[in-house]
Amino acid sequence: MRKLHINGNNGPLNGKVKISGAKNAAVAIIPAAILSSAPVRIDNLPDIQDIHILTEILRSLGVEASWHNGTLDIDAGGLSGWHATYELVKKLRASYYLLGALAGRCGKAVVPAPGGCDLGPRPIDQHIKGLTALGARVEVEHGLIKVEAPRLTGADIYLDVVSVGATINIMLAAVRARGRTVIENAAKEPEIVDTANFLNAMGANIRGAGTDVIKITGVEELGGMTHTVIPDRIEAGTYMIAAAATGGDVLLCDVIPKHLDPVIAKLREMGITVEVADDQIRVVGQCPPQAVDVKTFPYPGFPTDLQSLIMVLLTKARGCSIITENVFEGRFRHVDELKRMGARIKVEGRTALVEGPVQLTGAPVAATDLRAGASFIVAGLLAEGETEISQVEHIHRGYEKICEKFKVLGADIREIEG
Ligand code: UD1
Repeated sequence: MRKLHINGNNGPLNGKVKISGAKNAAVAIIPAAILSSAPVRIDNLPDIQDIHILTEILRSLGVEASWHNGTLDIDAGGLSGWHATYELVKKLRASYYLLGALAGRCGKAVVPAPGGCDLGPRPIDQHIKGLTALGARVEVEHGLIKVEAPRLTGADIYLDVVSVGATINIMLAAVRARGRTVIENAAKEPEIVDTANFLNAMGANIRGAGTDVIKITGVEELGGMTHTVIPDRIEAGTYMIAAAATGGDVLLCDVIPKHLDPVIAKLREMGITVEVADDQIRVVGQCPPQAVDVKTFPYPGFPTDLQSLIMVLLTKARGCSIITENVFEGRFRHVDELKRMGARIKVEGRTALVEGPVQLTGAPVAATDLRAGASFIVAGLLAEGETEISQVEHIHRGYEKICEKFKVLGADIREIEG
């Protein structure tokens, strides 16, 4: 079992950090590649576990896939299977994209119900509703989702909830369907736009990605191409918040500042200096920052994936802050661990009241999910004494070289066997 060991209260983070490719775009684009039987190259992929597991799943289905230093060459010409195995699928949430991609390419898919982060209930009824509307027969039995779709046909689909996963999955199933599909109340995340750009470059006809109405006109075939994945706005937000929390001065390179508008606005509201250039963001912390209220919402709202991180920053702020989690009802599992580190947080339903400023103290904590794990790193940097984070595999699922990147910024952090 590997653990992260942090010696906290070690001064502000300073320096430059390069942001990796977006995990949540990559985990959609890799399955999307099997919609074509021509070779496809995907660049700027983060070197993280979710990507390697997904690549393994594709190989198990007869797809050729080779990884070199952030680039994945995929040749799905020899795709020979549509049944993904439980052992691999259970490790990542995004395995549900195999449903849309395999249904679109082979007319059938068998995929075990997805794993990934435990954020409370995570239904996939909207994915199933979309696939069914396109003419697929979907059955869920013995933990398997089985899709039979000999001929998918375009349809008008209104999503009951704004869902990133359902929007992308329906897009994947619809690109080669007969006729036109319209997704209304679609999610607008940049990762959806990146996936649509990837598919369009392969020859798909998708319009409106990034708005709440996406129109897809089915095409017979898709070709090959090269695509560069967008930067990871959640990784960028993580380092921005870490810089702010430690009162540091950090320059983020290779980012798309527009994707971080809600985070930049919130940090500025707290009195933190954020300077924006073409593909760079500089954050200069302010101690103590102002308390603020934060409400998570689908993009362009404040991202739920940064909720646990901003909570740590708010423990340093002067006054009481209220965080309202509007996306995942069970996403406060990090609170108990933060309280063990001395945070004063009270949760009621979907809201958390954070009292600050407090001096956190180091403690052993377990990374309950990917972003919670990252928030414990930031808490560990602020805490007096040593913090040991177990279950680090959650963190490695989504953050490339997280220890090295924090070390370069001056953190006293190391990964140990223990
Ligand atoms: C994606 C991201 C995740 C992020 C989340 C919200 C990936 C791989 N993961 O997750 O990091 O936290 O978006 O930005 O991209 N819902 C339903 N029925 C469905 C689908 C979703 O009720 O069929 C609900 C969920 O329970 C949740 C809300 O809709 O309350 C949003 O979920 P969704 O956008 O689908 O999240 P994911 O795609 O799983």
